Amino acid sequence: MPRARPFTDPGLHNLRATLTVRDMIRIIELFAGEKTMGKKIAFSGIQPSGELHIGNYLGAIRSWIDLLDKYDCIFCIVDYHAVTAPYEPSELARRTYEAAVVYIASGLDPDRCTIFVQSDVPEHTELQWLLGTVTPLGDLFRMTQYKEKAKEVKTRQSVCSGLLCYPILQAADILLYKAEAVPVGEDQAQHLELTREIARHFNRRFGTIFPEPRTLLSEAKRILGVDGERKMSKSLGNHLGLTEPPEAIWEKLRTAKTDPARIRRNDPGDPERCNIYTYHTFFTPKEERIKCAEGCRTAAIGCVDCKKVLFKHLMQTLDPIRERFNELVKQKDYINGVLDAGRDRCREIARATMEEVRGAMGIRRLH
Ligand code: TRP
Repeated sequence: MPRARPFTDPGLHNLRATLTVRDMIRIIELFAGEKTMGKKIAFSGIQPSGELHIGNYLGAIRSWIDLLDKYDCIFCIVDYHAVTAPYEPSELARRTYEAAVVYIASGLDPDRCTIFVQSDVPEHTELQWLLGTVTPLGDLFRMTQYKEKAKEVKTRQSVCSGLLCYPILQAADILLYKAEAVPVGEDQAQHLELTREIARHFNRRFGTIFPEPRTLLSEAKRILGVDGERKMSKSLGNHLGLTEPPEAIWEKLRTAKTDPARIRRNDPGDPERCNIYTYHTFFTPKEERIKCAEGCRTAAIGCVDCKKVLFKHLMQTLDPIRERFNELVKQKDYINGVLDAGRDRCREIARATMEEVRGAMGIRRLH
């Protein structure tokens, strides 16, 4: 009787003989991929509601870069969120595209993270609907962002329900990927708290499917606009665009609000009360920054001198971003390729989660 061969599959049996170096590299790559899969998922997103600005950069993108090694990062361009505010339909596609270009130009290397557009993965809205069934209305009405946005609309009756349900869609974005970490600015902390609440409600009712995601607060808590009063935002026109020409940035900086105590050149100021100084803390090296602060307190320098120092250092960050942006924005095939790959990977994860969710909720065919 011939002894059974250790390998009965002839393909497998010949494996060792036929492996090329290239195959081996591929196998190693596959294992490396496994490692990525083993990492916890971090998820975040920005609305393509206008040109991205340094508030988006400091509050989001820059802090995301630090996570690339630690997490399996998924970064989304949330176009379904963007349509909850007044917007120009003929511009949305370009804004979405350009947001992707800004992500990459700012240092989110597509080889080290997943970048995709929310509306490319229909499961986001599907999960939103289902999560809406475990989300108390009272919680939605309590959201600060809702209250602020609703104020901008004339009458309460005309506030669209999309604005109210915005945080459910955000929860769906995160939970769809079972993300465990969500890097955001302080203004999103409340939405994240609600996301955890929704996950708990769901898990309690239908069985544990979703992890409760942690909020990773970015160092830059709240970036004010050049008016020194309100959060930086394109719609308020108080923003410094990430890809704006240097002359335009300087013009906005030159006229930006500083410490109101410095009315005349000789009036001493307090850097702690100056929004320009806050910008310094993000862009200007410590030594020069301290010099500016001293100059301000003693009125040795004027606000314009101080702004010139800031401008120089700000440009050291923005120049490379703008140059890469201008180069990449023309490479449509490349950018769309990145977004296609992101979409494909996200759809796969999303489909698996939705299958679990529908199963748990009893939404399936009876056989
Ligand atoms: N609401 C967020 C903002 O305005 C954007 C956003 C949508 C988001 N979905 C998200 C952020 C999921 C983090 C995770 O900044």
